[in-house]
Amino acid sequence: MRNLRLSMPALLNKCYFNFGGQGPLPIQSLESINNSWLKVQDLGPFTSNIWPYIAKEINSTKSILAKICGVRPNQIALTENVTSGCILPILGLPFKTGEQILISDCEHPGVVEACKQLARDKQLEIKFFSIIKISGGIDNRPQTTQEVIDALRKELTINTKLVVLSHLLWNTGQLMPIKDIAKFLNNHPSKPYLLVDGAQSFAQIPVKNDACYADIYAFTGHKWACGPEGLGGVALSERVLADSTPSLIGWRSLKNENISDTHDQNPFHTDSRRFEIATSCIPLLAGLRCSIELLSREGNELERLKTIQKWSLKLWESLQDIDTISTILKGPPPAGLVSFVPYKIANIKQIINLLGEKGIWLRDLEHPNCLRACLHIVTEQEDINKLLDGIKEHTI
Ligand SMILES: Cc1ncc(COP(=O)(O)O)c(C=O)c1O
Repeated sequence: MRNLRLSMPALLNKCYFNFGGQGPLPIQSLESINNSWLKVQDLGPFTSNIWPYIAKEINSTKSILAKICGVRPNQIALTENVTSGCILPILGLPFKTGEQILISDCEHPGVVEACKQLARDKQLEIKFFSIIKISGGIDNRPQTTQEVIDALRKELTINTKLVVLSHLLWNTGQLMPIKDIAKFLNNHPSKPYLLVDGAQSFAQIPVKNDACYADIYAFTGHKWACGPEGLGGVALSERVLADSTPSLIGWRSLKNENISDTHDQNPFHTDSRRFEIATSCIPLLAGLRCSIELLSREGNELERLKTIQKWSLKLWESLQDIDTISTILKGPPPAGLVSFVPYKIANIKQIINLLGEKGIWLRDLEHPNCLRACLHIVTEQEDINKLLDGIKEHTI
C-alpha cells in the first residue's frame, strides 16, 4: 500500500479524503497514457496502421471493465464519465406520455435534472422515493433491503417505467442491495428499468453480483479506480439493448461507420456501441487499465474493501467520541464514505477551507448538510489523526 501511495503525486503533500470526487492518478498510469499517446503518433494518428491498435486498446479495456461488472464485453459502452453513462441510455428508452420516472432522494443533481428535463420533453411524471434516512450502516442488511423496498412500494405504480438508484449513496454512504431491488422490480407488474449510478461503488466494492442485475449500470474510472478523468463506462442489459434507440448518434454508433445508408432503417450497432458517439481519447484507456492493475496488486476486490472498511471504521468510531459531531450512519460504514455533521457550526463550507489551509481535503454536501470524508486503501492512520485534530480544532 505504501508504494502505491508513494506513486501518487497528489498524496505526497496532503491528507486527501476526496476519493469519491476524484481519485489520485499513480505516476505509472500517467506514464502509460503518455506511452500510448506516443504510440498513436508513432503509428500515425490517422493511418491504416492505427486502427488495429485502437481496436486492441478498446477491446482489452472493455474486457476488464466487463469482468468487474460481471457482464459480457459487448454490453459495455465507453463513456466520458458517470453522468453520460446514466443519461445517454435513458434518453433512448421507449417512454410513453404519462409514464413515471421514480428517483431516490439520494441521487446526484446532474442525473436528477436530466431526468426532469426528459420528463418535460416526453410528458412523463417524476416522483421521488425516500431512502435518505436509512442509516444502519453495514449492520442488518435484510432490514436495509426491507426499508428500500418499502420506500419503493409506496410510490411504484403500474406506470413506473424507470427507477433510478445509486449502488453506494454518495451522501450518506449507505449501501443499496441492488440485486434484491432488481428482483423486486422485476416481479412488479410494471417491470420498470433499473438505472444504477455506480459512481461510488465501481472499483471500491465488488460490484459484479449486483451490476449484472441492473438495466443500466453507469460508472467512471476517475474516482475509486484512480484512473484518469474523461473515461467511464456503462453496462447495459439485453433488455435495454433490445428496447432502446441510440440517443446521441455519431459514426461509432453505426454498424458501418463509413456510410450513411438511406435504405437501412436500423443502421446502429445492436450491442452497447450504439451509445458510443465519435472520436475519443484512446490513451486514457491505458491509464485506466494501469490503475486497475495497480489496485489489484494490493489485493482482490474483497480484500481491498476490507482495508477500506478498516479505515472508515476507525474514523467513524473516533467521530462517535466527539460530542459536537454526529455521524450520518448510525452503524459502521459499509465502505469508504463517512459523512458527519458538526452541529455547532453554522457554515459548514468554512471548515472545508480552514482544513484545506492545513492540507486536509474533504468536501461538504448540501443534502444532508454535512461533511464527507472518503477513505481508500492508500489512506494511513496519520491522515485520520490529522483530520480528527483539525475537526476538533474547528468544531469544539
Ligand atoms: C453518485 C454520483 N453520480 C454522479 C457523479 C458525477 O460524476 P461524473 O462527473 O463522472 O459524471 C458523482 C460525482 O461525484 C457522484 O458521486
